[in-house]
Amino acid sequence: MIVTPWEVSGRIDYEKLSREFGTEALTIDLLDRVQKHAGKLHTQLRRRIFFSHRDLNWILDEYEKGRKFALYTGRGPSGPVHIGHIVPWIFTKHLQDVFKANLFFQMTDDEKFLFHQNTKLDDPFRWTYENALDIIAIGFDPKRTVIISDIKNINYLYELAIKVAKHMTFSTVKAVFGLQESSNIGIIFFPAIQSVPAFLPSAVSGKSVPCLIPAAIDQDPYWRIARDVAPKLGFPKPAQIHSKFLPGLGKGGKMSASMPETAIFTTDSPEIAERKIMSAFTGGRTTIEEQRKLGANPDICSVYHYEYFLFMDDDKDIEQLRRDCLSGHILCGECKKMLAERVKPFLMEHQAKREKAKDHIEEFLAESKGVDLPE
Ligand code: TRP
Repeated sequence: MIVTPWEVSGRIDYEKLSREFGTEALTIDLLDRVQKHAGKLHTQLRRRIFFSHRDLNWILDEYEKGRKFALYTGRGPSGPVHIGHIVPWIFTKHLQDVFKANLFFQMTDDEKFLFHQNTKLDDPFRWTYENALDIIAIGFDPKRTVIISDIKNINYLYELAIKVAKHMTFSTVKAVFGLQESSNIGIIFFPAIQSVPAFLPSAVSGKSVPCLIPAAIDQDPYWRIARDVAPKLGFPKPAQIHSKFLPGLGKGGKMSASMPETAIFTTDSPEIAERKIMSAFTGGRTTIEEQRKLGANPDICSVYHYEYFLFMDDDKDIEQLRRDCLSGHILCGECKKMLAERVKPFLMEHQAKREKAKDHIEEFLAESKGVDLPE
């Protein structure tokens, strides 16, 4: 398996990753604590889609003492948003609702320009706008959310970025990100930029504000180095909660915008989404007879993963589906149809919210609202 901030491939062993990265598993005790605040434990926690963390216990200690924390997450806008991207955003919104937390949402439009040889700057600008609509459609609270573009809102980031950069050496960045002598120097500086929003809540308010970063596990290298720098600048170390990747509709690998047939984009028409689902890779057998007799394998099935990650909320239903699949009671065609029938209304609803977001975008963007959020 390969898991870096720019490449995720192979069959991912999350326990091994967590060990290698030095993160902690979400224990039952910790989840109980979250549940006390949330009422019901969110599906993504119950199913361990968010599966590891750093300092989440500390975030809760502080919260329970009356000290609020801020949330920070982000997106590298290089193309349309697909359903895999919104999995952690949905969870982030849940955290915002439960903990009345402010959220800094970073659009690293510089990142894609620097890392991809063929990306021109026009693309990130366009995608920052398009993707912001998807983010807003998730339902974040405009009073508590600010979307920051690295390029357009560098005025809010640069001062902190150079403070951070002064404590990051080339040798650290090179080792952590596997850079080379031939890497362009924008890439070398970039980790400072991605660290900044973790410190903004403190810098802006003049108080020490704990920060929790919900993000897929591939972003962890950034937080490791941000955590080393934090105390040197008098900021609390940012805490993290890490998610798994939603697999693509093809065989193996995470959902990727570069393979459009295996990704359901939020802007896909219901018909296109249905077509993609109907040709998805499953864990089925070659013949119906064989499947009825031997059952299929949900663990490698993309359709099952979609239900598990996002669409089938009731645990009893998902367990039933798993049993029906293993026993050969249900066939892949039926299963795909069932998923398509859930995905279609979901997309239509999301697209309606996305349209509405066009009239409210300035309530979210740093250039129109600044970065000052209420306490
Ligand atoms: N680097 C991330 C990407 O390529 C975007 C990002 C910036 C991010 N800041 C973040 C993701 C904080 C999660 C949390 O998508």
